[in-house]
Amino acid sequence: MRILGESLDELRATRTSVKWRFHDPDVLPVWVAEMDARPCPPVVAAVSDALARGDTGYTWAPPFAEAFAAFAARRWGWTVDPDEAVVVPDMMIGIEELIHLLTPPGGPVVISPPVYDSFFGFVAATGRRVVPAPLTAAGRLDPERIDQAFARAGAGAVYLLCSPHNPTGAAHTRAELALLAELAGRHGVQVISDEIHAPLVHVGIEFVPYLTVPGADAGIALVSASKAWNIAGLKVALAFPGAAARATLGRLPEVVRHGANHLAVIGQTAAYAAGEPWLDQVRAELEENRAQLTDLLARHLPDVIMLPSQATYLAWLDCRALDLGPDPAAVFRVRGRVALASGPSYDPAATGFARFNYATSPAVIAEAVARMAAAV
Ligand SMILES: Cc1ncc(COP(=O)(O)O)c(C=O)c1O
Repeated sequence: MRILGESLDELRATRTSVKWRFHDPDVLPVWVAEMDARPCPPVVAAVSDALARGDTGYTWAPPFAEAFAAFAARRWGWTVDPDEAVVVPDMMIGIEELIHLLTPPGGPVVISPPVYDSFFGFVAATGRRVVPAPLTAAGRLDPERIDQAFARAGAGAVYLLCSPHNPTGAAHTRAELALLAELAGRHGVQVISDEIHAPLVHVGIEFVPYLTVPGADAGIALVSASKAWNIAGLKVALAFPGAAARATLGRLPEVVRHGANHLAVIGQTAAYAAGEPWLDQVRAELEENRAQLTDLLARHLPDVIMLPSQATYLAWLDCRALDLGPDPAAVFRVRGRVALASGPSYDPAATGFARFNYATSPAVIAEAVARMAAAV
């Protein structure tokens, strides 16, 4: 049975998450990064069993870190020491707390727009300031702009890496990451690598963990099973230090570990330990979905350019030729009753862009493109 196969009626009847509730019921949601997926059986079993047993206390994270370490070794040949992991309530709280720890009030945080929109909001919420180092037009890290931004930001700044990159779906290569690490070392910038989308590299594409590249020792990586196994409702994440960042990570206040949710830890542990068959089936289905979306756009909206990607289930669409104004997603939503994510929320300069989430059934993808085409 297809994991990404439920009909629109089934999805409407069973989902109560933000994706399906934020907009009016007649609006088809292909915006926020949730999959319309049948759940991963080992995750369901682990969480249901824990609830049924009354195993609902405060969490004990070491088995979670061990399950991730084993997964990372099997999947990517990445050796991490589970004893060095720090459990945090979720990716963004972990990142926010690290920014607090690493930078002074008003200090600079370099990010590469277009990038996950919460990066802007969370940096602002910490009272730090964003220094942009925009991606290239191809959606990749731009070493020249990073060099310039690091020079502007100065020693002690943080670079918040999105790896793989949301929304462009770039899987950064070893060479790109090694150059980033070299630039960070040269300028005294500390890299925080958000690797939440890592298991979702496209079939045949290599994911390179930031901490495995030369010169990345001062970096800190954060991981979570929440995107790849579609369990954003089971929020929790792990932070791992590079060899030179152990003491820094050790300074994260106890209050941060306190927020981790026991059922989320149980569910995410099951995902890493026993969820690979499900993950690989999803990845295979996403290949089909991406091919379907590419084909439908070419036939019905040939002026829309879909950026080539190597990871995630998100398509970054250049809709500028449609002349729909700065925010095409707003036009698709109002006229077509289909909700994409707004390009400018990932980069104020990304006018004319929108993000399409194709982790859904082929029927929903077809309906979404038909609605987009009807709107223009
Ligand atoms: C790059 C990136 N980081 C973090 C998150 C959110 O993670 P969390 O819910 O664990 O804070 C997302 C969600 O889409 C994301 O795309």
